[in-house]
Amino acid sequence: MGLAGKTAIVTGGARGLGEAYVRVLAEEGAHVVIADLLEDEGRALAADLGSQANFVRLDVTDQRQWRALVDGVVAQHGAPYVLINNAGIHSFGSVLDDYQNWRLVQDINLNGPFLGINTVAPAMIAAGNGGVIVNISSTCGFIGYGDQAAYVASKWAIRGLTKAAAIDLAPHGIRVHVVVPGPFATPMTAPFHGELTELVKSQPVQRIGDPPEAGRLIRYLVLDATYSTGSEFFIDGGAMTGMSLPDAGQ
Ligand SMILES: NC(=O)c1ccc[n+]([C@@H]2O[C@H](COP(=O)([O-])OP(=O)(O)OC[C@H]3O[C@@H](n4cnc5c(N)ncnc54)[C@H](O)[C@@H]3O)[C@@H](O)[C@H]2O)c1
Repeated sequence: MGLAGKTAIVTGGARGLGEAYVRVLAEEGAHVVIADLLEDEGRALAADLGSQANFVRLDVTDQRQWRALVDGVVAQHGAPYVLINNAGIHSFGSVLDDYQNWRLVQDINLNGPFLGINTVAPAMIAAGNGGVIVNISSTCGFIGYGDQAAYVASKWAIRGLTKAAAIDLAPHGIRVHVVVPGPFATPMTAPFHGELTELVKSQPVQRIGDPPEAGRLIRYLVLDATYSTGSEFFIDGGAMTGMSLPDAGQ
């Protein structure tokens, strides 16, 4: 119960990997604010966790909604100690495709986390107890993938945002980390689950990840990674380590 008496905000926390982050933070005693567009899923998860969680509808691209969220959290639960900038969308599309899709992906996957940091960090600083911010990249933030130009660019950029924020916020005792997930089974990846099943055969750990495995990394980062900031933490089945040849006998 290392987070008893502390408040956490998880964007995109209503389902998928975000739900796993919500559950692990609640297990550690935090009060968790599930901030998402999905009202039914978010309220159901909050109900499941009882007094340890509540749902707030948030579009991460809307600065006014962020301000209202933070004001409400501070008034009702105390200043946030943890922010998990998890909300994101995946999108296929090459560099030849339309600008509108590019802008939407950057708005949610990059500008959303910026607004989160920009709005939540001042409340952390005012409270004077430090804090932990975790951003979510992807293996798409380490190499390029075809036909995913906007997503790849957004997930590279969030690593840069993490490093800048880590330096800016270190004097206030706020750590900023970035997690690099490989393929996980979530509603986001459900439409191409078959392709992922094939892809993971080239990883050292030849399977798709289970969201609670990512939850355990979040627990480590929030509670124990006290001498780290600005760094990338991989949970990718070794995908960024390298690949084996199809007939290498593994
Ligand atoms: N699943 C994977 O394999 C994988 C791999 C690498 C990185 N990621 C990243 O992990 C994060 C979570 O992915 P997931 O697989 O759980 O996806 P998901 O689609 O299952 O969940 C994403 C959540 O974000 C919410 N969301 C989307 N746009 C929002 C907005 N504008 N405002 C507020 N909430 C919004 C959705 O409603 C949803 O609840 C994303 O940032 C994703 O890019 C996922």
